[in-house]
Amino acid sequence: MTLLDVHGLTVRTADGRSLVSDLSFTVAGGERLGLIGESGSGKSLTTLAVLGLLPEGMSATGSVVLAGTQILGAREKELTAVRGRDAAVVFQEPLTALDPLMRVGRQVAGPLARRTGLKGGKLRAATLDALAQVRLPDPERIARAFPHEISGGQRQRVALAAALACEPALLIADEPTTALDVSVQAEMLGLIDTLVREREMAVLFVSHDLAVVAKVTDRILVMKDGRAVEEGTVRDVVGAPRQEYTRNLVASARTLESALDLRSAP
Ligand SMILES: Nc1ncnc2c1ncn2[C@@H]1O[C@H](COP(=O)(O)OP(=O)(O)O)[C@@H](O)[C@H]1O
Ligand SMILES: [Mg+2]
Repeated sequence: MTLLDVHGLTVRTADGRSLVSDLSFTVAGGERLGLIGESGSGKSLTTLAVLGLLPEGMSATGSVVLAGTQILGAREKELTAVRGRDAAVVFQEPLTALDPLMRVGRQVAGPLARRTGLKGGKLRAATLDALAQVRLPDPERIARAFPHEISGGQRQRVALAAALACEPALLIADEPTTALDVSVQAEMLGLIDTLVREREMAVLFVSHDLAVVAKVTDRILVMKDGRAVEEGTVRDVVGAPRQEYTRNLVASARTLESALDLRSAP
């Protein structure tokens, strides 16, 4: 079943420049699609359009249907419902997703309560469980902390816990490891990989780094200057890129060998 159907998506600035042009792709339920391209190729604007979160002044045409809802032109109320239920997002910088003035526990408890209706002690227990599931050590302490009191890697885990608390059909991750130290990056990728597999969640995973995308997705869409230039399975795109541009992305991917080893491991 098609969960996300993007068709002819074009995103324009107020003065009419196209930043994303006639982009089409689908994500089926449980499928993991990687969106890759060099910086400025329109990946983030695409994810924002999917969530109905484009910056002021930008307009989108075409069609974006997420779990049966047409996102383009939808009212804020509909969009809010879709964002909690059908799709949740983890951004590059967790501080943009987390409220700096709210303890971490409450930021995970909010979406959990909305989905499950839990309250009091049960909600508290479920919150600590959600923090433990993203492998945060000492969830009790983390829950009481403010975002600035924990590390960047821990903040990104909290953002992931808050996104997963919605049990979305689609997890959108926009460069979720780019701001992290390399050692922490691998852990975070492994974690996302494990959790979305366990939950059979669909993923739209965005990165400029092909090695990263290859670890956690099945299919890749390559973007250049706001357009799709190549699409295929990870193996096909990495093994036999058709475009010069894609070949360059393959060549510049860090540790691609080990990424592929990781994929073929049991
Ligand atoms: N708020 C904005 N106003 C004007 N131009 C923007 C804005 N956001 C992004 N852009 C431009 O749109 C293009 C695509 O941006 P983006 O989707 O963020 O690329 P990517 O995520 O692939 O690095 C870039 O040229 C960028 O400069
Ligand atoms: Mg981006």
